[in-house]
Amino acid sequence: MTEEKGGSAQRTSLQGYWSSRMAFILAVTGSAVGLGNIWKFPYITGQNGGGAFVLVYLFCVVLVGMPVMMSEILLGRRGRRNPVATMALLGAEEGGSTHWRWIGSMGVLAGILILSYYSVIAGWSLAYIEKSLSGVFSGASSDEVSGIFNMFIGDWKMVAGAHTLFMFLTVFVVARGVERGLEQAVRFMVPALFLLLLALLGYSINTGHFGEGVSYLFTPNWHALTWGTVLIALGQAFFTLSIGMGAIMAYGAYLPEETSITGSAASVVVADTSIAILSALVIFPIVFANGLDSAEGAGLVFHTLPLAFGQMGGGVFFATIFFILLTFAAWTSAIGLMEPAVAWIVESYGRTRAQAAVIVGVLIWAIGLGSVLSFNVLADFKFLNRTIFENVDYLTSNIMLPLGGLLITFFAGWVMCRNSSSDELGGATSIYKIWRFLARWVAPIAILFVFLKAIGWLPEFSG
Ligand code: TRP
Repeated sequence: MTEEKGGSAQRTSLQGYWSSRMAFILAVTGSAVGLGNIWKFPYITGQNGGGAFVLVYLFCVVLVGMPVMMSEILLGRRGRRNPVATMALLGAEEGGSTHWRWIGSMGVLAGILILSYYSVIAGWSLAYIEKSLSGVFSGASSDEVSGIFNMFIGDWKMVAGAHTLFMFLTVFVVARGVERGLEQAVRFMVPALFLLLLALLGYSINTGHFGEGVSYLFTPNWHALTWGTVLIALGQAFFTLSIGMGAIMAYGAYLPEETSITGSAASVVVADTSIAILSALVIFPIVFANGLDSAEGAGLVFHTLPLAFGQMGGGVFFATIFFILLTFAAWTSAIGLMEPAVAWIVESYGRTRAQAAVIVGVLIWAIGLGSVLSFNVLADFKFLNRTIFENVDYLTSNIMLPLGGLLITFFAGWVMCRNSSSDELGGATSIYKIWRFLARWVAPIAILFVFLKAIGWLPEFSG
């Protein structure tokens, strides 16, 4: 890491800049807050035993997630291109090899794979807007609510239809260019979602078994924890923060020079984590009050919340609003998932944004049919004991994103010269030193260690 290396900063972005620091924070928050917080976090917490899993997740967010997010933003701003080109450029400049571009290519692929099933679940949310509005959940028992859900996901044509509609919405916005419209959506959506969750929290406190929910989430039961579940908690930290695949790098490319990377990343991490914890605090008391199964899996939110809405005054209204907001949250994330692939095709193959969006959209839609069928026709078709949906999720969240994060922090911490990184992070302050320590040592070693433990390549210390 000699000090002669490293390029000049102040490259200019090819596509313009965020209008303000707030615009950047809103865009990154819009990508971070999504199904990962409200749908995935509660259900995988339930599948992995609660308390200990939540604590490991929080550790991963702070010690690994935060430095990875800062590294992605700083690489993005330094390179100012799509993630593949940025990594090729910085790789040549700082590390003597354009092979670093493979970090970007893996990110493009991860985004495509994640969106293929993300869109299917977003389709469930879309369909639940209509179901809520129809009033079927009013006064419904928990068996009736489960019945409605099982009937719906069992009908592959309905699920495929909703998935198609959601992909259409996503392609539409991506093709038109992301900036306007979406920024407005996030500005309104994230606070509205937060308020609605607070209102639901009131319901859970009054009607649910709130104490039981809180102790389930925050009393660590270390026996329930294996290295396999630690890897899942790490993967969730990556998934929920949208890191490890270059999406935040792509957004960082449009960040003005003077904006603080640390401050922006911290705001996003706090907003994202509070929404995840808040949803779990809403959902588990309802689970316990109704004797539902906390480990039931991907349907958890679609059972608990309609059941709760069905029992409250104005439930039809609130349920409809809730699923509209959830669909919007998924929509602003879906756009971020598609962005690396679209930007890469536009810049490398000279296509228009609209053409690229359609090509990528059709590909993702087709791959997504595998996840559509995982809940019905192909429910028993398993590989490594997992359905297609579960395999795509496992491969992306628990392998590709942490691997991407490992390489990103390795590059930012070890390959990039100190001058370049401190330049982006506002000089050699104590915050910079903490970031550098986390990016060089803590994040890469933690990721590698958890990987090796989870696949059993490192011996157990105890019985
Ligand atoms: N963070 C999103 C969520 O919690 C999902 C996601 C993962 C994502 N990687 C991303 C969104 C990249 C945008 C870009 O729902």
